[in-house]
Amino acid sequence: MLTYKAASPEQHEEFLQLMRVDAADYLDYSLKLMRLTWQEFAELTRTVGQVYAIYQDERLVGFYWIEERGRILHLHGLFVKHPFQGKGIGTQVLNMLADKYASSMETIELGVHDSNPGARSLYEKLEFKTVKRLAEVGFSVMQKPLSEKGRERESA
Ligand SMILES: CC(C)(COP(=O)(O)OP(=O)(O)OC[C@H]1O[C@@H](n2cnc3c(N)ncnc32)[C@H](O)[C@@H]1OP(=O)(O)O)[C@@H](O)C(=O)NCCC(=O)NCCS
Repeated sequence: MLTYKAASPEQHEEFLQLMRVDAADYLDYSLKLMRLTWQEFAELTRTVGQVYAIYQDERLVGFYWIEERGRILHLHGLFVKHPFQGKGIGTQVLNMLADKYASSMETIELGVHDSNPGARSLYEKLEFKTVKRLAEVGFSVMQKPLSEKGRERESA
């Protein structure tokens, strides 16, 4: 069973390291385009939304970073630690978020980079649809409606 707790300051450092390695293909380039230093970006991860630690039983297996933007739940990042990937954890986290926020949010949203077809195929399997392409950074914004309003927004 998975449980979730706000990341402690120490865990936050681990989250940053994991993200730096796993998103190496696009993070430095994206930060350059946004004119952000790594330190400034790291500060954003502490001040925008909330990073949660994912536990399987007592073991820390990954992190997710979310932000409530009005009625949109934005998932900035989902990182499962390498030894635990491919075992259904990412799927469970995404399904948990969809259930937990079904009554308070209209839509769940995330960005996926072109260099990450594995993550994209997971999101497509869970019925996320591409709603916007940010071609200059190679990102697709994907959304999944959580409520009737979200479905109306999707078909508008
Ligand atoms: C992407 C990620 C969050 C998925 O979590 P997970 O626990 O490994 O995923 P699950 O076991 O629930 O689902 C596996 C599905 O994801 C997809 N997938 C994920 N990574 C994949 C890869 N490297 N190659 C192929 N498919 C992949 C497949 O559709 C797979 O389905 P299958 O098992 O039926 O083939 C995780 O692999 C991860 O942290 N990757 C590194 C960081 C990252 O890319 N994060 C997402 C961008 S923010």
